[in-house]
Amino acid sequence: MRVVDLDRDMSDVIPTGTTRDSNFLFERMTEVTLACAEPGPGRRILDVASGFGQDSLALAARGAWVVGAEPSARMTAWARLVSEKQSAAGAAGHGSATWVRGWSDALPFRSACFDAALCKGAIDHFDRPELAIGEMARVVRPGGRVVLAIANFESIACRLARWQDAVATWRGRPPGRGRRHYDVPADHFTRYDVDLMREQAARFVDLDRVIGVSMGWGFGPWTRATGRLPEGVAQRALQWLDAWAERSPELADVVVLVGRPRTSRSAA
Ligand SMILES: C[S@@+](CC[C@H](N)C(=O)[O-])C[C@H]1O[C@@H](n2cnc3c(N)ncnc32)[C@H](O)[C@@H]1O
Repeated sequence: MRVVDLDRDMSDVIPTGTTRDSNFLFERMTEVTLACAEPGPGRRILDVASGFGQDSLALAARGAWVVGAEPSARMTAWARLVSEKQSAAGAAGHGSATWVRGWSDALPFRSACFDAALCKGAIDHFDRPELAIGEMARVVRPGGRVVLAIANFESIACRLARWQDAVATWRGRPPGRGRRHYDVPADHFTRYDVDLMREQAARFVDLDRVIGVSMGWGFGPWTRATGRLPEGVAQRALQWLDAWAERSPELADVVVLVGRPRTSRSAA
């Protein structure tokens, strides 16, 4: 039996806007992922597991022709609603996308019909992630781009937090109940680290770039420090760690992998 939640509405996802390091991570992950799809006039881009559709709309606002593919009826309806509202309001810089209900492992599109396919913050929710990457590579034209943005559960922040909790437990003060940020949420099927990301992606794409995004997210002392520091200082510190993460994806909070569909020649 396939275990999926078609009524998913993201209400259980980590709330953004609560801490500076969360804001920074989510904004930066979006910025890097969308830029890697190279949106622009005439580009055909597929957003796999498009959720509420905010990324599809942002890509469309940059002139691309965008399809958001998403299995959840609730999230697809939400995306349509937001899109229609923006159109009705004549929102400046607004673009429109096409919404399709579809599973990532059987994308309802012809082969090689997109210039780029991206999947942000979703592949660890898939029950068949490798099939999904294979499908993304299939629907992207040769030389086009496959972009995956994935949370790293072996980030330096996860490792430090695990170590901190182990010390606290050893000292007889175990952390409170509830999921720790280094624990994989119940709705994830895969716990990714950079090696696993590379291994799965490289079966279907020739990787051009593996980019780390943000460092330190969710590690208590760092989250509190960024909250207390003056805004400008906190932003510079977050940017400095982000620049470090970019070059050291194994330490980063999120990793963005960018590649081209493998051809029979490159696979040989
Ligand atoms: C955390 S949300 C991410 C949504 C969006 N990409 C974003 O960044 O906001 C994960 C999404 O994956 C979708 N999903 C789960 N399993 C899927 C599957 N097998 N194929 C396609 N989408 C799936 C869910 O419906 C949900 O919209």
